Parts: sequence; structure tokens; C-alpha cells
Amino acid sequence: MTNPAEGSRRNQGRRGWLHARADATLADVSPPRPPPPGPARGPRLLVLGGAGQLGWDLARLCGPETTSLRRKDLDIRDAGAVRAMVAAWADHQPPGSSLVIVNAAAWTDVDAAEAEEEAAGAVNVTGAANLAGATEAAGATLIHVSTDYVFAGDEVRPYDVADRPGPVCAYGRTKLAGEEAVRSLTPRHYVVRTSWVYGAAGHNFVKTIARLERERETLRVVDDQRGSPTWSRDLAAGLVALASSGVPYGLYHLAGAGDTTWWGLARAVFEELGADPARVLPCTTSELSLKAPRPAYSVLSDRAWHNVGLSPLPHWRDALAGAFAVDGEALRP
Ligand SMILES: NC(=O)c1ccc[n+]([C@@H]2O[C@H](COP(=O)([O-])OP(=O)(O)OC[C@H]3O[C@@H](n4cnc5c(N)ncnc54)[C@H](OP(=O)(O)O)[C@@H]3O)[C@@H](O)[C@H]2O)c1
Repeated sequence: MTNPAEGSRRNQGRRGWLHARADATLADVSPPRPPPPGPARGPRLLVLGGAGQLGWDLARLCGPETTSLRRKDLDIRDAGAVRAMVAAWADHQPPGSSLVIVNAAAWTDVDAAEAEEEAAGAVNVTGAANLAGATEAAGATLIHVSTDYVFAGDEVRPYDVADRPGPVCAYGRTKLAGEEAVRSLTPRHYVVRTSWVYGAAGHNFVKTIARLERERETLRVVDDQRGSPTWSRDLAAGLVALASSGVPYGLYHLAGAGDTTWWGLARAVFEELGADPARVLPCTTSELSLKAPRPAYSVLSDRAWHNVGLSPLPHWRDALAGAFAVDGEALRP
């Protein structure tokens, strides 16, 4: 069983996306329709990646103060369009309210990124830089979502925000470079790393296991990669709390509490489906021919998040039960 929740080329020298900046002209960008002015009621969210797992849950969770854009509405690789869109939204904030951009858009196919690192970087680095530059120009705030795959995976205790990253795959490299671009372009940023995301929208490991439960008598799933499954709805709720918290800008980790392996998660999915978890057999990563290496251990410590008074996410096993209760139809094939 592969890890389908997320998808090495060696260093290729100067990559275009490493030097990307949000400095394109604003020419031939059609003016976006601004949000209607309304009473000031705290931050207004502009979400990128609205069709993805997290973006979809942000849209579901938030009220009319949130605008959710899909790739067809705004391609974050287009610096001019990004800057025009963010500027228009910032200009039309009602007095007293602030604009928070949430970057939930990303190239998330971990295996495909190995062969297409430039293309992955165009979204994960250039796109992030475009949003950060536009955020800075507009005086807004950026919440940028990143990943546990920035770590090498050779730790034996949860990774803290102070730990040194060392990505082992192209996806992780692009996400780390995206973080660095955000940090360098605007001080008004929250970079939030999360892990093993699943939800009602899009493709994910939980949906894949639910489908395979119907198709196969037994499954083999890797038991030597450990992380924290995160329900996208819980993550969305955490980011909404962050947006209005006023806590210091900077780097945070936020994922489901507790940890398990992909095998453990697959067994739990079987339990939620009323199927026998003994049908899920453990295997090692080396038995599979994955294109991208993965960190063997990528559990994230939410110490920094907790220290500023924000609530941790529920335990991953409770969250999975909640996800099947709320989104069962979408998670089952
Ligand atoms: N999935 C995980 O297990 C996981 C783990 C750790 C961290 N993360 C991070 O969490 C964040 C949200 O992930 P997710 O699971 O919600 O991802 P997702 O379901 O793959 O959604 C990503 C969205 O980004 C959009 N997108 C891609 N390229 C774009 C572009 N150039 N312009 C605008 N939108 C673009 C995609 O649009 P299309 O639908 O048109 O392709 C898609 O809707 C990402 O930053 C990801 O790196 C995810």
C-alpha cells in the first residue's frame, strides 16, 4: 500500500522558483469583484485552494466573511493576478476589519513531485512567494500551510518548530522553500505545518482505504512510517481560531493529537467501516516501489501552538470517528 495522502531528484542547481518574487506587473489582470462592504466583525478570510481538502473545509466552516477561490478563479503562480486580487480585497475591507489570506493551495502529489520538481515549485514556492508579496503590499496577514515532510524523519520524539528541517523528497524541498519565501517577504505571516490530512473533499488515504476495503480481501499497508492523521475540518477550525487570535506571527505546528502508522490508520478506517481490521496486514516501505522517499517519523509537536494559548486538535482516533459521523458518505466509496 502506498502512502497516497501526499506524493529525488538531486539538487538541480539554481531553480527558477527559488528566486521567484511577487513582482510581476498588474497589466491585463481583469478586475476582481470586491466583497460587499459590511460591518466590521473581525478578520475576513480570503482562501486559496478552495477546492482542496482544507480549502473546502474552511469554506464550509466559515460564514459569508470568507471568500474561497479555486484554481480556476485565481492561479497563485500568476503574480500579477494574485497581487491585484489581494489588493482589491484589502481595499474593500470594512473599517475595523482585517484581511487574512489563507494559502491552502499547493502541489500535494508527493510522488509526482519527484519527476516534476520545477512544476511543484512553481506552486509551492513561486505561488507562496506571490501571495506573501501581495500580502505585504496590501498590509494584510498570510496564513501559509506547510507540511511535516520538511523533516528528515530521523527523530524519535515529536518535531518542534525549533528543529532543523531536512526534507528527503522533492515535495518537502518545495514546501520548505515556500516557507522561506513567505518568511522573507512579509513579517505578517503564520506558517502552520500540518500532517497526514484527510477530509471529505479531494483524494486522500482514508478514502483510498475505504475503497480498497470493498475491493480486496486483505491489504498491505506500511507500518514503518509514523505521523499524526489530521481531519481537515479540525485543521480548518484551528486556522480560523488562529486568524482571530492576535498571537505572535511565526511558525507553528498543528496536527491531530497522538500518532500512529499508516497501517494503524488503515486498521482504524476498517473499524469505522465495521470491517475486520485483521484484514489489514503490515509491511515495510522498502517492500513498495514508491517514487518519493518519505520521512519514517514526522510527528509534530504543537508546543508552540499550545504555548500561545491556542487549543490543540482532538486525538486523531476521535477525529476519525467524527469524520465518519459527519462526512461518512464522502469518505466511503
Ligand atoms: N494532504 C496532506 O496529507 C497534507 C499533509 C501535510 C501538509 N499538507 C499541506 O496542507 C495544505 C492543504 O493541503 P490539502 O490536502 O487540502 O491539498 P489538496 O486537497 O491537494 O488541495 C490543494 C488545492 O490547491 C489547488 N492548487 C494547486 N495548484 C494551484 C495553483 N497554481 N493555483 C491555485 N490553486 C492551486 C488545487 O487545485 P485543483 O483542485 O485544481 O488541483 C487543490 O484544490 C497544503 O499546503 C499541503 O501542502 C497536506
